Amino acid sequence: MTASLYSTSYRSHMAGELRSEHVGSRVRLAGWVHRRRDLGGLIFIDLRDRKGVVQVSCDPDVLSSEAMESARRIGSEVVVAIEGDVVARPPEAVNPDMATGEVEVKAEGIVQLAPAETTPILVAYGADEELASEELRLRYRYLDLRRPEMLGNFVLRHRVFHTIRGALDELDFVDVETPMLTRPTPEGARDYVVPSRVSHGEFYALPQSPQLYKQILMVSGFDRYFQIARCLRDEDLRADRQPEFTQLDVEMSFVAEDDVWTVIEIVMAAVWKEVAGRTVERPFQRMSYRDATERYGTDKPDLRIAWELCDLSDDLRSSEFRIFRGAIEGGGRVRGFRVPGGAKLSRKVLDGLDKVAQDAGAPGALWTKLSDTGAQGGFGAKLSETELTALRGRLQAKEGDLIVSIAGPEPQGNAALDALRRHLGSVMDAVEEGDRFLWVTEFPLFERDPESGEPVPSHHPFTGLNLEDVDLLEKDPLSIRSRAYDLVYNGSELGSGSIRINDPSMQRRVLAVLGIGPEEAERKFGFLLEAFKYGAPPHGGFAIGLDRVVMHLAGGSSLREVIAFPKTTAARALMEGAPAPVADEELKELGIKRIRRTDA
Ligand code: AMO
Repeated sequence: MTASLYSTSYRSHMAGELRSEHVGSRVRLAGWVHRRRDLGGLIFIDLRDRKGVVQVSCDPDVLSSEAMESARRIGSEVVVAIEGDVVARPPEAVNPDMATGEVEVKAEGIVQLAPAETTPILVAYGADEELASEELRLRYRYLDLRRPEMLGNFVLRHRVFHTIRGALDELDFVDVETPMLTRPTPEGARDYVVPSRVSHGEFYALPQSPQLYKQILMVSGFDRYFQIARCLRDEDLRADRQPEFTQLDVEMSFVAEDDVWTVIEIVMAAVWKEVAGRTVERPFQRMSYRDATERYGTDKPDLRIAWELCDLSDDLRSSEFRIFRGAIEGGGRVRGFRVPGGAKLSRKVLDGLDKVAQDAGAPGALWTKLSDTGAQGGFGAKLSETELTALRGRLQAKEGDLIVSIAGPEPQGNAALDALRRHLGSVMDAVEEGDRFLWVTEFPLFERDPESGEPVPSHHPFTGLNLEDVDLLEKDPLSIRSRAYDLVYNGSELGSGSIRINDPSMQRRVLAVLGIGPEEAERKFGFLLEAFKYGAPPHGGFAIGLDRVVMHLAGGSSLREVIAFPKTTAARALMEGAPAPVADEELKELGIKRIRRTDA
């Protein structure tokens, strides 16, 4: 038998890799005591290493009484080395639930390599034991990471990264590192800042993304750049957002949208194939931002749910029902969708729809069930026969269906319709299996800042303009379509990118619309504008949130399951204790004075 890849001075084999073909082999193993069972005479130790668990039997006929005594005292998570022979288990003792369940190791020697106190959280969970609280799991992360499920996530993560590097290498991309201590990059979040010891009063920003560096590498003629880059953003956290996260960052020269999409599709298909064994259909579906919001109420539609939105306003313009008519008269719309078979939903579920809509910013949800006698419950009673017939026709709805609608101004209406579609999709079990990738294209270049009403970039200020819309730049900036695109997977945003502006005068015009005059532009992005003076090729790129990719592939719903040492939603690291105070001496050296917080 060939030597194990893992053979070291301490071991010949991995515990978790022993199979019936090893029967008769002498092995040396090293790992942690996963569990111990004392049957009076025999003692069984489940020994765990990175590859899994194997049963080790300690037999008083083989081991000395001292060795038996120490085996009897050995606790969970103690680190041990074991030597013995691999034997076949008798048929009645075979454990089909264990990869190593056909064999066991008959110990002839056991040595303790390191002690272990009783662990504050379990590593070896029984089927009926609940996982410790997330706070404890984060506090004792090294123990939580011992669980095979967690290790599995990180092995998967490694394979995703490895596949990406291989695929991009084949396409002749060059992996370039960019600085962590930088000038602020405008991705729209707050910066984490680092004080300069040498230049008091001046600060570096940690990169929100390598955006400007990668564009500058195109000016340098690198043509195809990539980096698996750490990004840092001080923003409000959610399950799919961490202050520190990892992007696959890509930039290419002499490209249009299709060229970038092709590369990203090749990479994603390689990852899904290699890591999940699933073939992804290419090219990915494409949809304009306008279509996505009209048909699904969102720029990240979950296409696994087939239902589409319809504008019902024309049918309800002169309705007696005040909520519908009022919304339309007020410049809003009534939109809705059909839930096939939804009339069977319970009153409780239907009453709960208001809350779903309210959480998404709308006053409530309106619904009615269709039966053989007409419409039942909800807004059905308030509509005329003609209106109901028109709605049925428009939605192609039939007996047994539910109609759900939102009346009012957008974008609240959009958000609520999207939330209701997702919610009911899951309640009705109407979310199809599968991998639905989608390019959402032609995002607006600007959006209105909710507070100031002024245009702000929808993506970032280096995004190119749709060439047909350039003339509107100063006249009607909010109507301009950009050359930005997002990649959406099963209703979640995986990445964003764009074809960039490469003309310094156009870049200045866009900055001017954003209220960034020449002086401020010079101060903030002077280096980019300067670089553009010396021959900037047409270029574009993309960035994918890799933590999100791994989370989806691991079937999880939180980034914390796929980041080795993540932060809490309050951006705290519970294991090592960060952030932490800094000594006055150190602050002095940095030229920083502590001020007392007045809002806490
Ligand atoms: P953007 O800001 O859209 O684009 O980020 C790209 C992708 O990064 C992931 N992401 C995050 N993941 C976890 N936690 C976060 N806090 C977080 N923020 C973003 C998302 C997102 O889709 N420089 C541009 C890209 C470009 O134009 O090439 C950028 O960073 O999956």
